[in-house]
Formats: sequence, structure tokens, C-alpha cells
Amino acid sequence: MGTELIDLMRRRRTVRKYLSKPVNEESLNRILEAATLPPSGLDVLPYAFIVITDEKAKQRIRTGAETAESEFHSSVKTEVKKFVDFKKITWEKPFLTEAPVLLVIAGDTTNPYWLESVWIAISYIILAIENDGLASLTYTPSDTGFLRELLDIPPHFSPEAILPIGYSAENLPPKDTRPEGKIFYERYKS
Ligand SMILES: Cc1cc2nc3c(=O)[nH]c(=O)nc-3n(C[C@H](O)[C@H](O)[C@H](O)COP(=O)(O)O)c2cc1C
Repeated sequence: MGTELIDLMRRRRTVRKYLSKPVNEESLNRILEAATLPPSGLDVLPYAFIVITDEKAKQRIRTGAETAESEFHSSVKTEVKKFVDFKKITWEKPFLTEAPVLLVIAGDTTNPYWLESVWIAISYIILAIENDGLASLTYTPSDTGFLRELLDIPPHFSPEAILPIGYSAENLPPKDTRPEGKIFYERYKS
């Protein structure tokens, strides 16, 4: 009892390569339903979810993202540099055109707790994606001006992430838990 959700969480992995196989409408609708169920500060659901399936629109998003990323990657240093090299993450973002669906999540900055609420919604969404046998990646572009422009996002909304949604072309193992140094009882212990 109670292990199904944990198993789902173990299976969910960040996928950076996708098959061209389409995502069916029922799956997409279930994922969008999950997007509107999370708790949010003052219960105002301070977000906008923009679903993109048009190939040309996806290509424009990829071009915008890659332009921003080439600048970012040419100046990236320290821990971030180590991580991106280790994961072989470059300025190229092929998943933005490979995945059949892109979901852009923007937060309504006029609401208190908007940022926290957006990220709780993203958690729900990535688990709902996994629950339908699909895969995703929480992509946080290094600059989001291009998204505002391409998608007519109003100034008081902040684009926070692009989630590609599709079938994985990678075979990643489920996760192990890593509780060491993360969990404390009664008080923090250093
Ligand atoms: C807030 C946040 C931002 C992230 N941004 C990116 C990103 O811009 N590009 C990327 O390739 N992965 C990004 N990731 C994915 C993480 O690198 C990934 O979750 C982590 O390496 C653990 O892998 P796993 O999701 O398979 O467990 C992000 C994840 C989070 C939660």
C-alpha cells in the first residue's frame, strides 16, 4: 500500500531525447487536468499553461532558446560548468523540436506565492506525464525574453519553464533515494 506513487517518482527521469511518436489527446488532457489540481497560494492558480504543437512554432522556440543558450554557455563557469559538461548539456536543444508537444509554464507575478505555486504545479505535471508513460524535462531557459515575444505573454507573467512532452528515446534507470544529510528529526544536525 502507498508505494505506487513512490514507484512513479523513482521512474520519472529527465529525458533529453524524444521519439517522433505523437502524444494522444487523452494523455495531454489528463496532464493538463493535473496542472490545475495543485495547491496554490490563496487558491488563485497563478499560472498560464501554453500548449504548443505547431512544428514551425516549436522551431521558432528552439531557435530563440539556442540563441540565448549559446551566449550562456560561452560564459558559464564553476559548478554549473562542471554539471553541464558531465551531463553533456550544450547550447543545442533538439528536444524542443523532437518532442511532439511543448508546454510553457508562466507565473502570474501579481499574486503572492506565485513562484512557489508554479513550481508545485510543475511537480504535479511531470508526475502526470510519467503516469501516462510519457517523458519530460524541466527546461529552464537562461533567458526568457524570446518566449514572451513569440507567445504574446503579458509583462506581468514570468515564463518559468518549457516542458517537452513525448515518448522517451532514452533508457534511463529508475532513481535511488539519497536521504544522506537531507533528513533530520527534531532538529538540524551538522
Ligand atoms: C528547477 C529545475 C531546473 C532545471 N533546468 C534544467 C535545464 O535548464 N536543462 C536541463 O537539461 N535540465 C534541467 N533540469 C533537470 C535536472 O538537471 C535534473 O532533474 C537532474 O539532473 C536530476 O535528474 P532526474 O530528473 O533524471 O532525476 C532542471 C530541473 C529543475 C528541478
